[in-house]
Amino acid sequence: MAVLSKDDMSNIKTLNFDAVIVGGGGSGMRASLQLARAGLKVAVLTKVFPTRSHTVAAQGGIGASLGNMGEDNWHYHFYDTVKGSDWLGDQDAIEFMCREAPKMVYELEHMGMPFDRNADGTIYQRPFGGHSANYGEKAVPRACAAADRTGHALLHTLYQKNLELGTQFFVEWIALDLIRNADGDVLGVTAIDQETGTIGVFQAKTTLFATGGAGRIYAASTNAYINTGDGLGMAARAGIPLQDMEFWQFHPTGVAGAGVLLTEGCRGEGGVLRNCNGEPFMERYAPTLKDLAPRDFVSRSMDQEIKEGRGCGPNKDYVVLDLTHLGAETIMKRLPSVYEIGKKFANVDCTKEPIPVVPTIHYQMGGIPTNIHGQVVAPKGDNPNVVVKGFYAIGECSCVSVHGANRLGTNSLLDLVVFGKAAGDHIIETVRNSNSDYQPLPAGVLEQTMARVNALQNTQAGENAQDVADEIRRVMQQHAGVFRTQSVMDEGVKKILALAPRVKNIHLKDKSQVFNTARIEALEVENLFEVAKATMISAAARRECRGAHTVVDYERPANDPVHPNGRNDEEWMKHTLWYSVDNRLEYKPVRTKPLTVDTVPPKARTF
Ligand code: FUM
Repeated sequence: MAVLSKDDMSNIKTLNFDAVIVGGGGSGMRASLQLARAGLKVAVLTKVFPTRSHTVAAQGGIGASLGNMGEDNWHYHFYDTVKGSDWLGDQDAIEFMCREAPKMVYELEHMGMPFDRNADGTIYQRPFGGHSANYGEKAVPRACAAADRTGHALLHTLYQKNLELGTQFFVEWIALDLIRNADGDVLGVTAIDQETGTIGVFQAKTTLFATGGAGRIYAASTNAYINTGDGLGMAARAGIPLQDMEFWQFHPTGVAGAGVLLTEGCRGEGGVLRNCNGEPFMERYAPTLKDLAPRDFVSRSMDQEIKEGRGCGPNKDYVVLDLTHLGAETIMKRLPSVYEIGKKFANVDCTKEPIPVVPTIHYQMGGIPTNIHGQVVAPKGDNPNVVVKGFYAIGECSCVSVHGANRLGTNSLLDLVVFGKAAGDHIIETVRNSNSDYQPLPAGVLEQTMARVNALQNTQAGENAQDVADEIRRVMQQHAGVFRTQSVMDEGVKKILALAPRVKNIHLKDKSQVFNTARIEALEVENLFEVAKATMISAAARRECRGAHTVVDYERPANDPVHPNGRNDEEWMKHTLWYSVDNRLEYKPVRTKPLTVDTVPPKARTF
């Protein structure tokens, strides 16, 4: 039997809210907290229990120039973030984030977030990649840390505060499609309840996506299994472009073979990467910041060592992260999860031996385009940034763009709370200024969702969803890695597009209603596929090196007078916009004017 037929439509639940937030991680819960404080009627739909969200993976800290452990201020943070982004970040958004950072961290502290402390009672801060004092002079401790469980502590703090204010969570509800009317305004989402298989319509004056990233488009990933790019898939199917999807961050220290993350905080505490000769090789690549250069730099250097035969192990296919000189006491105090991860996933006691590591997919810099209020924007006529009414996006699923072509570690947790609050504030204003009625839902509001769900329900034969997902991951891993070449990417485009019939031919064997995870996984593949297409096509089109997008064909030395590091600012200092329909690409300018200070002009990136 089909999940839904037209006759069932009268049984469909339509629930109304001032705001529907899709995603119960750090950004979703920071926004919901703001709305709950203002007394708005809010629903948070969350795929997993909120404290299980992937925010937990940001282990090492949240960036803010508190200056507790070395001279610091927001200007340095702003400069580092622009340079880290390889000049693809929008400088107005970056200034906004870096200026807000100290306030946001103190707010978390006052909510009870259990930060580590210095002897004088101030928040403990450790150095992190690409964060420097005095415009690149030396590393500065800027990552406010709760041991190596900062994201975990953040989630629990925000969840408890939301509970206190009565935020309504719909746990294990999964959004399926965005609802737009004929004018393109967003009026809510359709969603499925995993527990019962019930489908519902969440009608809202404002809809906020906080759905996280899509790191599961790659085979080797630090990302949770839930990170299937659901928000991006929904937005793309609804005609919204995805921005800068060619830029994917490889975190330098994923456990080799397992992918599990070892925080950059390891190197912040003094850990060192070594090759098979025991050499701390980052000293050669980044003489000033060494192991604390930004992630794109460190990942490329590691891959270079492996390519040149200086990898470790029988196959010389990894390098090692050495923490042994830190001593057991520091490791147990500052990096207790790293100790456990080393034991469980690498069978290594990191107080005594180094841990095998490889660069592993960690974060998508691109996403749904927004302004600094979290409002989704898309081109219309001559204006590349026209607001899509009623629609907001924040956190990893969005592209505001503060991370540009390469994110600095600790700026992800910061992004979540800064733009979670900003979007919350804007939604409050929007709801208060709107007339009290909901816009009428378009006729056939459930048709698209029903068609997708029923098509799966009625299949008699076809492909296993996970086989198709695995093939997507294989292609992405091979064709959009740390080092790319034009021909490898062009081949990747062909291979990804050729998977379309297989995605359409997925067969759902289990037709049951209650906790049918096979149905959810099959629906997720459609989202993975949208993100994989966006990534591959945007990457093959960008003919330069910038941040995490390194194309061997265009590589140049840092001192190249025209294209330093292979970056071509004349032609390519612009954001990519990919549309699902016809895989069309458009471009829009980077916003190089900050809010109050001078532009940071482009220059070669050395560390
Ligand atoms: O390495 C880490 O702790 C990850 C942090 C981040 O991605 O910001």
